[in-house]
Amino acid sequence: MQLLDGKKIAQEIKEEIAAEVLKIKGRGRKAPHLAAILVGDDGASQTYVNSKVKSCEEVGFKSTLIKLKKDITQNELITQINLLNNDDSVDGFIVQLPLPKHINEERILLSIAPEKDVDGFHPVNVGRMTLNMPGYIPATPKGILEIIKRYKIETEGKHCVIIGRSNIVGLPMSILMARKGYPGNSTVTLCHSKTRNLSEETLKADIIIAALGQKEFLKANMVKKGAVVIDVGITRIEDKTRKSGYRLLGDVDFEEVSKKCSYITPVPGGIGIMTVVSLLQNTLSAAKEEYYEKTLRFSVDEDFLP
Ligand code: GUN
Repeated sequence: MQLLDGKKIAQEIKEEIAAEVLKIKGRGRKAPHLAAILVGDDGASQTYVNSKVKSCEEVGFKSTLIKLKKDITQNELITQINLLNNDDSVDGFIVQLPLPKHINEERILLSIAPEKDVDGFHPVNVGRMTLNMPGYIPATPKGILEIIKRYKIETEGKHCVIIGRSNIVGLPMSILMARKGYPGNSTVTLCHSKTRNLSEETLKADIIIAALGQKEFLKANMVKKGAVVIDVGITRIEDKTRKSGYRLLGDVDFEEVSKKCSYITPVPGGIGIMTVVSLLQNTLSAAKEEYYEKTLRFSVDEDFLP
């Protein structure tokens, strides 16, 4: 078994990004600028956003963190989003999810200008991804593709089983692994809570992507010998022996499954850390206007919003 070392790959990519930032600045242009909106005080969301902001500093990006109270109204949040949509100094921004219950997530994602949507959650970017057009790919799936590429894992003609159909990971991953090209050209099965006989599906898989959010769900008896196992889960469990008070567990029973598979991502140090660098890559693309020219920018048509 070989470990897919997200930490090492993420560091390599950060160095590549930092070198590009130096070049951009050397040409007299400003550093790429990522903004993040965090609503409320959810501990996990705070940790994720802080790590995104810290990573910006490491590669020489400018970052802005906008913290909003959990009882902010939907309209107030949209006003804040519009400010960022129209702020030319901001290349890309994210609204950290989940949002408080009284806010309609779909409405919020539709308010983000697609050319600044470095999370790749806006339907315009989801459509571009689906049609294999250039655009922002959501950070976690992008991180998974990158790790597959850097370890030169074969995907063509392979049977890829994805567990979990979230808009953030499972669903986009199913599209990406089936797309023409590399990584891709796989035969994809997307499993979810209504799938019958899940083990029957996973046992046929050459590549398993576990993204259902249940700690240590995937056991060795569900995995074919020599399969590639990508673990997207990050569940916090209380651990008083740690300074943080918690430790992280993935969706895969690492202890058991690692003995049976060919490659596996650890938790932590696997996909989670790749997600953050993917967001930096998307922000760099935004700063370089790789996918959208300024003159072709969309305006958000209020009539089409829910
Ligand atoms: N919550 C969990 N993952 C993500 C992500 O990739 N982006 C945002 N904005 N929120 C998240």
